Amino acid sequence: MGTYLETAIDIARESGALLADMYKTPLEISYKRPSDLVTEADRRSEALIIERLYKAFPGHAVISEEGGGQRIQSDYCWHVDPLDGTTNFAHKFPVFCVTLGLLYRDEVIAGVVYDPTREEVFTAEKGAGAYLNGKRMSVSKNATLSESLLGTGFPPFDHRHDLNIQLFLEFTRRSHGVRRAGSAALDLCSVAAGRFEAFWELRLNSWDMAAGCLMITEAGGRITSLLGEPHRIAPVEILASNALVHEEMLPVFREVLGKSSA
Ligand code: IPD
Ligand code: CA
Ligand code: CA
Repeated sequence: MGTYLETAIDIARESGALLADMYKTPLEISYKRPSDLVTEADRRSEALIIERLYKAFPGHAVISEEGGGQRIQSDYCWHVDPLDGTTNFAHKFPVFCVTLGLLYRDEVIAGVVYDPTREEVFTAEKGAGAYLNGKRMSVSKNATLSESLLGTGFPPFDHRHDLNIQLFLEFTRRSHGVRRAGSAALDLCSVAAGRFEAFWELRLNSWDMAAGCLMITEAGGRITSLLGEPHRIAPVEILASNALVHEEMLPVFREVLGKSSA
């Protein structure tokens, strides 16, 4: 395992332990926008991660959700979500994680997602596979949408709620069901681990998806836009799957998005 990943795992474990501690105590919630929460836990986890990354890799850039980070010119850039699943965390619904993904130029080369409530560490390195607690992960081999379990997320800063609900309805009708668990990074890991056949969201940020996307491609999955175009790590929509149900899902997006004026 490379030094980048090893260091990222240590940092994710440390910040995950901090989150698990803070989860037990009452927290003050503030709002970035309506329904877009932030807590002291997001800020303290971010401060810890950034300090550790600076110490380990002083020449690397860091982009982190709460605005901390070092926006220097570098071929190496860490995309960090210090607490993915803030709304769950604030309501004491135990589905949240820490995620760090390292990009070299435009490509994710290492990533970690740590879920402290289940003690699950998801890791991936470009060309070296994806792992859950050290065990190799593969996407599911199920090729039929009607036998699939799917995941989705509703971005708090995107108001196309009708479109989300329409897609939710269409895929609920065509599958074993759709889960909206509230942590995109964990949703992506669920595809990589073969728990979900696919996941989609109308808009994610780079810090939500960098590590999770590498898990999926390294576990044999496929990622595109909702219309099947090439995917990039940027604030964009995403369809991530086990590759086998992808083609069956794309026409549903084309139909629903085609009808929508959003
Ligand atoms: C959110 C979660 C959620 C997804 C949102 C994200 P946050 O991240 O990943 O599942 O639907 O789009 O913004 O705010 O909890 O870090
Ligand atoms: Ca997030
Ligand atoms: Ca976050």
